[in-house]
Amino acid sequence: MTLLRLGIRVRAEEAEPAYARLHEVLAAGAQVRELDGAVEYATYGAPDALPADARLRELAGDALLGISRTPLADGWATAYHAHLGRVTAGALAVRPPWVPGEPDDLVIDPGDSFGGGHHVTTRLCLELLQELEPSGALCDWGTGSGVLAVAAARLGWAPVYAIDLDGGELVAANARANGVGLEFAGCDVAREPAPAAPTVVANLTAPLLRAAMAVQPRPQVMIASGFLAGEMEATRERDGWGAALLCA
Ligand SMILES: C[S@@+](CC[C@H](N)C(=O)[O-])C[C@H]1O[C@@H](n2cnc3c(N)ncnc32)[C@H](O)[C@@H]1O
Repeated sequence: MTLLRLGIRVRAEEAEPAYARLHEVLAAGAQVRELDGAVEYATYGAPDALPADARLRELAGDALLGISRTPLADGWATAYHAHLGRVTAGALAVRPPWVPGEPDDLVIDPGDSFGGGHHVTTRLCLELLQELEPSGALCDWGTGSGVLAVAAARLGWAPVYAIDLDGGELVAANARANGVGLEFAGCDVAREPAPAAPTVVANLTAPLLRAAMAVQPRPQVMIASGFLAGEMEATRERDGWGAALLCA
């Protein structure tokens, strides 16, 4: 299948509000490149899964400088991976396997999923996890690569349940690579019960968070992120995104 790299160039001085307005396009993770007087956000997808130029113009408004669509026949994931580095959040550092780092780093292969630890919402969740006292079971709703679940297991929660619509093999591989045990379950958290746990971490979008919170039993402690600042009440905000620590 042909995949496209969609590049959206916006004026540097309007890059942050433009990023927030482009949320529906970039929420699954975007590359960010600073160019001369501009910032380029890039994402990948099948041609019919990417939004039309008209929609991008509508979302980006006057900040838009240009749109590019580059076919990537093979190796598209590798192209995306080349932009991932080592990121830190509190005392934790996350890096992909091909980036050099320290022995204690969480080594997470993002595969084709969101979740190299690079997104600000993932880092907010990692920071908030480190402010809690690990105790008992934890469930990660929307685990992606498993980065938050692996971090939770490393910090001392057990058992740790990693939940996503699919992607169990990648999560299992990342758990093995970090020497932690995780239990993956394929589950739509907006529709069916996930394994119950007193602590939940959920890096989803605001609509999904609301839907999941209506369906799942209320945990004692929940870290929620993936929403834009202003969409939900936040404990912490950064770069236009919010994260909340909720206690029953
Ligand atoms: C924003 S990513 C977060 C990934 C990872 N937790 C992180 O912080 O890097 C959201 C994840 O939620 C998953 N997801 C989306 N809708 C879901 C649903 N209804 N039930 C379970 N997982 C879902 C997506 O597949 C994706 O992996």
